[in-house]
Amino acid sequence: MPISDAELSRHQHMPRYYAQRAKEYERVFDKPHRQPDLARLKQWLAEQFSGRHVLEIATGTGYWLPAATSAALSWLGTDINPEVLAEARAKPLDQTRVSFRLANAYAPGIVAAGAASPFDAGFAGLWFSHVPIGRQREWLQGLHSQLQPGARVLLIENRYVEGDSTPVHRYDAEGNGYQLRHLSDGSEHEVMKNFPSEARMQALLAGLGQDLVWRELDYFWTLSYRKI
Ligand SMILES: C[S@@+](CC[C@H](N)C(=O)[O-])C[C@H]1O[C@@H](n2cnc3c(N)ncnc32)[C@H](O)[C@@H]1O
Repeated sequence: MPISDAELSRHQHMPRYYAQRAKEYERVFDKPHRQPDLARLKQWLAEQFSGRHVLEIATGTGYWLPAATSAALSWLGTDINPEVLAEARAKPLDQTRVSFRLANAYAPGIVAAGAASPFDAGFAGLWFSHVPIGRQREWLQGLHSQLQPGARVLLIENRYVEGDSTPVHRYDAEGNGYQLRHLSDGSEHEVMKNFPSEARMQALLAGLGQDLVWRELDYFWTLSYRKI
């Protein structure tokens, strides 16, 4: 079903919401009961990206970077919002290996068509849930276009945990869920957020990825696979 103009404008609001949220974004990681999961995820990222050249999509404030980049050979973090990348740049990271660039996740344009990619790994944390259902496969293909054949791809996402996650207050005709979120200035934002299942991810990656490993923690899921 084609997306309506009203839905399109809601999807376009999401990047502006994160620009506005840049200074307070990382408060979401303060929840005490999520600390064991977060510690496991950071350790996993450090191990998985050790010795890799990594392209990250929707880096945001770079919450994962101190851990994830610790043993990577190089890391390019990208995001559509300069406000969030300013927060990431302020982190104590090894500037000889870690750099940042403004880029749209749907058209990263880092590696020109037909050129050899320097990236043998790709990463997106808490981003895939914001990709509309109708664009999920397109986004995966766009990411893959920037990576070497056989590249390792890791995704981290929130699980929907009743009583802990922000409730989904409505679904649109395509099946995308929407949450109502509030910033410290009192503003309210409707933000699209999807919670895909393992089966959905397997179906989406048919013909695109192999050796899929899905893992569920208490509050997050992870997916690791190799680009075909
Ligand atoms: C939930 S945050 C995730 C940030 C970070 N990856 C993390 O795990 O904390 C989503 C990010 O997507 C970025 N974003 C929104 N639309 C984008 C787009 N079209 N292209 C690239 N980044 C986008 C926002 O600026 C925000 O930093």
